[in-house]
This record gives sequence, C-alpha cells and structure tokens, in this order.
Amino acid sequence: MTIKDKLTAQLPEWRERMRRLVKESGDVKVDVFTIAQVYGGMRDVKSLVTDISYVDPNEGIRFRGYTISELLEKLPKPIGADMPYTGGLYFLLITGEIPSAAEAEEIEKEWKGRGKVPQYVFDMIRTMPSDTHPMTLFSMAVLAMQYESIFARKYAEGMKRDTYWEAMLEDSLNLTAKLPEVAAYIYRLKYKDGKFIQPDPKLDWGANFAHMMGVPDKKYQDLSRLYFLLHSDHESGNVSAHATHLVGSALSDIYYAASAGLDGLAGPLHGLANQECLKWLLDVYNKYGQVPTKDELTKYAWDTLNSGQVIPGYGHAVLRKTDPRYTAQLEFGKKHMADDDIFKLASLVYDVVPEVLRQQGRARDPWPNVDAISGSLQYHYGVKEFDFYTVMFGVSRILGVSANAIWARALGQPIERPKSLTTPMLEEIGEKIKVA
Ligand SMILES: CC(C)(COP(=O)(O)OP(=O)(O)OC[C@H]1O[C@@H](n2cnc3c(N)ncnc32)[C@H](O)[C@@H]1OP(=O)(O)O)[C@@H](O)C(=O)NCCC(=O)NCCS
Repeated sequence: MTIKDKLTAQLPEWRERMRRLVKESGDVKVDVFTIAQVYGGMRDVKSLVTDISYVDPNEGIRFRGYTISELLEKLPKPIGADMPYTGGLYFLLITGEIPSAAEAEEIEKEWKGRGKVPQYVFDMIRTMPSDTHPMTLFSMAVLAMQYESIFARKYAEGMKRDTYWEAMLEDSLNLTAKLPEVAAYIYRLKYKDGKFIQPDPKLDWGANFAHMMGVPDKKYQDLSRLYFLLHSDHESGNVSAHATHLVGSALSDIYYAASAGLDGLAGPLHGLANQECLKWLLDVYNKYGQVPTKDELTKYAWDTLNSGQVIPGYGHAVLRKTDPRYTAQLEFGKKHMADDDIFKLASLVYDVVPEVLRQQGRARDPWPNVDAISGSLQYHYGVKEFDFYTVMFGVSRILGVSANAIWARALGQPIERPKSLTTPMLEEIGEKIKVA
C-alpha cells in the first residue's frame, strides 16, 4: 500500500470524527484565557489541533503517540546503522503507523526519484552576496521551487476540494526529497571550496545529507538521521509550525508555507538558539583553556545570569523536565565522543546549571532543551559553522510541518482568522471584571 492509499483509507473516519465532534460538542469551551495571555504571545492558549505530535510538559514530545526512545527502537534502520531511516519517520508522521522496513524504503525510493534540484535554484543561490545568511538562502531556495508546485497549478485549473490533500502530498514529497541537497549545496558553497558533492544513490536521505556535506566520519550519517528525527516536529504552537500552518491556511502551497516557517525558525528566540548554546560553551572553554571544574563552571553560570543574560539551552516554554531530545543526543555523544572536550563540557553543564537556575528562581524550567547539546555534536564532526545549524533544523522541521499541512488540507481546515481587540477594549473588559 502506498502512503497515498493509506491516507485514502484513513480519511473517511477522521473526517467523520471531526464532523461529529463539531456537530455534537461544537459549543463546548476548550479554554478561557486572560488579558495577560492576549498580551503575552497567546502562551498556553489551547487553540490549535494536530495529531502528529504532542508535547507533554513532564514527558516531552511524542510523535504519533510514540516517545523518542520508542521510535529509536521501533522505526526501521538501514543495514549497519544505529539510527532509523528518515523515510520511515516521514511515513509515521504522515500515516500515524510505524512502517515496515519495506514501507520506509519505499519513501526513501520516492525521495530518490524526486530529488533532482532544478538548476535555477543553484543559479539563484550563487547570485546572492557571498555573506548572505544561509537561512536566507535556504528559505529563498524553498520559495523559488514554488514554481514546481502541483497544488498551485491544479488549483488554478479548478481542482476539486476534497482532492487538495493529494496535491499537497505530491508537493510535500517533492519538496522534502530535495532538502538535503539544497542544504548541503549551501554549506559547500559558503564554507567549503564551493565544490558540490553529488548525492550517492546507494545512501538513504539522512546519510546522503552527511555524505554531501563532505563529513568523512561515517558516524555522522547516524547523527544526521538522529538530528532529523529529533527536530522534525514539536506540536503546532511553535513559531515555525504555526507560521507554516497560518500561511498554508490561506491555501498557499507548501513551498510558500514552509518558506514562511523557515523565516520564523531563523529568529534568535527559536531555531537560532542552538548556535547561541555552542557559542556559550566555547566561551567557557576558551576562558579556562580546558574543561573547567564544577566550581569554575558554577561561577561562570552565575556571572552570565548576573550580567542579565540567559543561559542558552536551558528552560522551555512548555516542558518542565529534561527534554528527551536532549537525552537522546547526550546518549549519542557518550557512545561516540566521550573524550571530546566540548561534549564533556556540555555534559558538565547539565550537572551544574539546573541547580544554579533553581537557586536563581526565575526560570520555570531549569532543565536542558534540545539546543543545549546539538551544536557540540556537530562541532565534534567538524561542522563548526554555527550559522548553518538552523538550516539543518529547517531541513528537519519541514518534515513535520508538511505532514501537518497534508492533514490540514485533508480535513479541510479553514483559513485562520483570530479576532483582535484594541487596548481601550481590553481596559474596559479589565474594569468590568474588577467591578464585578
Ligand atoms: C526557552 C525560553 C525562551 C522559554 O521562555 P519562557 O517560557 O518565558 O520561560 P520562563 O517562563 O521560565 O521564564 C521566566 C523567567 O526566567 C528566565 N529564564 C528562563 N530560562 C532562563 C535561562 N536559561 N537562563 C536565565 N534565565 C532564564 C526568563 O528570562 C524569565 O525572566 P523574566 O521574568 O525576567 O522575564 C527561556 O527559557 C530561555 O530564554 N532559555 C534560553 C534560550 C534557549 O535555550 N532557547 C531555546 C528554546 S528551545
């Protein structure tokens, strides 16, 4: 059964569940929210729906109901690899089912058939100023490929509404197929000799990225597969996911929508945080010229806080425990680079910083998030160009947001249109409640 057949089989039941819920319980209140939340970035307002992933405050992410450790165990792996096929992950995100090895390989095969990046994308990248940020180039490349959109073409021809998702699936497979090559091209152009390494048809999607980056250590293939799994989705309220959904809700195709999501990911409060973390670790390391002692690190952490800065990689808007995406990377590091100084330092920070943040008493979550360690693993394999890390995050995140976009079309999710109020209106609401 192809991925399209699977969705075709599942859709009637999902559409019926949604229809019944809205018909029978459409008036039921899900949440009430406060003026502080209206001004405060809609934090915690329960107003989005996705079945692709869910972040439990105490447990962290589940993709389609599975924890990260369950996924690392259950998803099929290429022969000789420790980490699963990204194609199998994409199958799971879209269909909700753990694929067989053959099903995971089928997605990998689809990707190979659709992977050729149009020459105009490379030409466009090359015409940009050489110090353009790699995220700008990456987002531009995704947007440029909108030219290829099947959804946009069929929509203009008058496609039937209940088949929108089929065009979205086609576009999503076409787009995701090309991401490793586009990203690696940008990397080689900006940071290496500009000579592009051709994809190896024998390698899977994640391993091919590692190969085209030019990293010789074969373990980097596993790290790439792990990285792409961990960063793919984080429910729907984060900036990249929400921006993609919002733009897609106007029936913009996945190229427009994903490019918008990448633009959000480029922000310092979102995807850019991983490079801040590595920078902080390297600053510590350079100050002491070696891995510092626990006491030295404690002092450094307090100095950072006392100078009014945050300790990057620690804290989370939703989570209240160590991010399992952090733990998965820590385990990888312990296995493959236990003697690497920067990795050792990142592990030591885990022993020191939560207690410092607890004593300071401001952060609601003193535990590490995904960004606290990802940079140090990349650094170990020689990918030391911080600016590029968000591009890898983007490669991965498009897997999740496109899976969501396919389902948003399949369930006919409407254009987003929240209501805004003026400050005097909110003042009036505040006054009325006070009087009451
Ligand atoms: C992730 C983050 C943005 C979440 O923000 P949040 O939901 O507002 O977090 P909280 O509600 O716990 O913040 C309460 C206070 O603790 C502070 N705080 C949170 N994490 C902190 C950290 N790692 N170091 C220092 N202070 C921190 C906040 O700045 C805030 O201070 P304020 O009251 O002066 O505004 C925040 O924890 C942070 O800035 N962490 C460091 C950057 C980072 O790792 N980003 C990647 C996110 S995946």
